[in-house]
Amino acid sequence: MTDMELLALAKKASQRAYVPYSKFAVGAVIECRDGKLFTGCNIENAALGDTICAERTACVKAVSEGSTDFLRIAIYAESENYCMPCGSCRQFLSEFCPDGQLEVLCAKADGRYVSYRLRDLLPHTFNY
Ligand code: THU
Repeated sequence: MTDMELLALAKKASQRAYVPYSKFAVGAVIECRDGKLFTGCNIENAALGDTICAERTACVKAVSEGSTDFLRIAIYAESENYCMPCGSCRQFLSEFCPDGQLEVLCAKADGRYVSYRLRDLLPHTFNY
């Protein structure tokens, strides 16, 4: 699957976002080594701190279905800026990608994207 195809799935996932508060819809899709794909969107809550990001939705769906070997994650938002994963999502993903090799594709509204390795977005992850 090409980066653009993966990003198109992230964009589609963003259509399911539940964002009555921020109105900022995010979509994500995780690709696993065996080819399985898990999508996610952000889901907000009136108790704003209980909101879950799109990346973590995708991650918990994957893990709860028995998939933890992640290759790439694509993230999309209808935004002027590249949609980067927040700090909590970086740490959360690092749990399952301890070598930091996970490729993180971050897109913006015009379809352009940037690619990073998780280890470059979050060096020195917390672990014990
Ligand atoms: N959000 C994500 O879904 N992913 C991120 O990495 C950062 C932020 C969501 C949470 C909230 O619903 C909205 O974007 C605005 O913060």
